[in-house]
Amino acid sequence: MADTKTDNSAVDLKVKVREWVLDRLAVPPSELSVLDLYCGQQGEMYQRVWSKAGHYLGVDKNRPHRLAKTMRASAEMAVQELDLSLFNCFDVDCYDSPWAVARRILRRCGHGRFGLVLTEGTARSLKSGDCNEVIRATLGLGALSNLTLMIRFNDVVTRLMLASLVSLPRVRLECAIEGVVRKQNVIKYLGLVVDKAAR
Ligand SMILES: C[S@@+](CC[C@H](N)C(=O)[O-])C[C@H]1O[C@@H](n2cnc3c(N)ncnc32)[C@H](O)[C@@H]1O
Repeated sequence: MADTKTDNSAVDLKVKVREWVLDRLAVPPSELSVLDLYCGQQGEMYQRVWSKAGHYLGVDKNRPHRLAKTMRASAEMAVQELDLSLFNCFDVDCYDSPWAVARRILRRCGHGRFGLVLTEGTARSLKSGDCNEVIRATLGLGALSNLTLMIRFNDVVTRLMLASLVSLPRVRLECAIEGVVRKQNVIKYLGLVVDKAAR
């Protein structure tokens, strides 16, 4: 069967993870400022969750929805160029590996508590023997050319990548939740509340 990319294959689970993060973050809607980095053409997460935020910016490299303020750009470029201190909630609802973008967010965001939601679909690329550079670098797999067998250790890869993410300087993980869909590929929906100390 073809390996198709579906935008919202587990919408209810994705909504629950986001609502869990919002409950723990516990900021009034007027103070909630969301950067929705893979906002999609339908803006499903905007419609279901983020529309309650006082401030919102959606980013998508293809066709961002038009339900609120959005821009057409890659997430990689957005997290490099935007002033991330303006946001206290980040949504990384990508198709495969969220780690490079998540690491950039944690390095460049302001201090204080914030929410981070990740869609972890690295299994797709691990399955094809591919493995993105940030995973190779973080896990010290640079010298291995064929990573096909890593699919067996997908859950371990996720744990190690998450541990490394929240070990970045001044970062502390307050709490986290994981929702998992095991279909053709394993997709994990991670919700984190993170506290970043001031310099
Ligand atoms: C799973 S869908 C997102 C669904 C969306 N969060 C929603 O609530 O409807 C993934 C989206 O990522 C976009 N996309 C893919 N690669 C991207 C990139 N490098 N930067 C930004 N958007 C990207 C696709 O156009 C697609 O809309």
